[in-house]
Amino acid sequence: MRYLQIKGGNKLSGEITISGAKNSALPVIAGTILSDKAVKLINLPKVVDINTLLKLLTMLGGSVVRNEDGTVDVNNANISSTKAVYEIVSQMRASILVLGPLLTRFGECEVSLPGGCAIGDRPIDLHLKALEAMGAKIEIKGGYVRAEAHDGLKGAKIVFDKITVGGTENIVMAASMAHGTTTIINAAREPEIIQLCEMIRDAGVKVDGIGTGTITIEGTCGKPLDFKDITIIPDRIEAGTYLCAAAVTYSTITLNSVNMEHIATTIDKLEGMGCSFTIDDDKITIHPATQLKSVNIITTEYPGFPTDMQAQFMAVATLADSESIIEERLFENRFMHVRELNRLGADIWLKSHSAAVRPVKELFGADVMATDLRASSALIIAALAANGITNIHRIYHLDRGYEDLEGKLLALGADIKRLQE
Ligand code: UD1
Repeated sequence: MRYLQIKGGNKLSGEITISGAKNSALPVIAGTILSDKAVKLINLPKVVDINTLLKLLTMLGGSVVRNEDGTVDVNNANISSTKAVYEIVSQMRASILVLGPLLTRFGECEVSLPGGCAIGDRPIDLHLKALEAMGAKIEIKGGYVRAEAHDGLKGAKIVFDKITVGGTENIVMAASMAHGTTTIINAAREPEIIQLCEMIRDAGVKVDGIGTGTITIEGTCGKPLDFKDITIIPDRIEAGTYLCAAAVTYSTITLNSVNMEHIATTIDKLEGMGCSFTIDDDKITIHPATQLKSVNIITTEYPGFPTDMQAQFMAVATLADSESIIEERLFENRFMHVRELNRLGADIWLKSHSAAVRPVKELFGADVMATDLRASSALIIAALAANGITNIHRIYHLDRGYEDLEGKLLALGADIKRLQE
């Protein structure tokens, strides 16, 4: 197995470009199922999760052509199967995003249950309840969700008890080809949802309330959509991760292709920790703090502080001037990086859903294990600031979501290598 070796202590400098957002590309790819024509996807990040979902499309009978200019042409005219098999869904939970589009376009589908994952139970009950409200018959058998709506889904008023990103995406897609109007109340407002809604609106579907908690969609009564070319938005979590890497190493770096609005809470928290920023259009330069200050964070839905940045900020907070409190409100088990950060010399204490991060003077290199995607990037951030060598094992998590992480860190002057165990 491969692992990453980082020799900490280097200051970072220079410029890198942020890739397309994995979490936006995934629903966009699933959304292409709503069309029976070719769709061109631009700025897809080159990460494993994207390959996994594209592979699922080809297993269903879709065609995927990777062009030399980096764009990808997807054509789902000839889908011949509506079964998303365990082999794929077990590799990536987000495969559940094919449920809504397959059901609304073909009137039936089978999707393997995603099961739990490292950061918590992550059920899909809200997705299923909403599809039932739209007239789907759903049964769970043999580890699969079997859904039917042979006369098409019907528009309905969907009230989500809890804000769910994936649930909102599935229902937005399902509603776009349903009969009648669907209103989603308590919808997620993440930039990824906005991109998906705009993709569907630009295909001629009437979508109101984009970016708000109430989205209304008039379905096409079973008529497939005709999408324009789609350019994936920049990855706000990738951008935040590099800003944290710069903050912890007291470096000045510049990121290109960033949407500032999408990273507003990250900028705000890093300013509170003593960093400063120069912003020019889609380019952001971070300037170091004199001494990093502590930070208090509560994760919540967008536009609040993202749970996907919690681990990275914890890594930075280990070297702040006083105690930080980080509360995780979205996932019940998203603190597995704590034990590994403590192996690097951090002093973090967990109580229920909160972590008290007590400051230490130094971190020291050690062998650590990545447990999930964002936990892995927290270990990288800590390793960049640690004295000596850190070996980060199980890096396949990182490859799921960060395009060319080593290449970008090397370009910034980090001492990082990918080695074989
Ligand atoms: C998405 C993101 C993930 C991010 C998360 C929260 C993708 C591919 N993944 O995940 O990176 O951390 O949003 O911002 O975009 N829940 C239920 N029942 C459901 C659905 C969700 O109880 O049917 C709960 C979950 O267990 C969790 C909370 O709702 O506690 C939020 O989950 P959700 O917003 O659905 O996250 P994902 O879409 O899985």
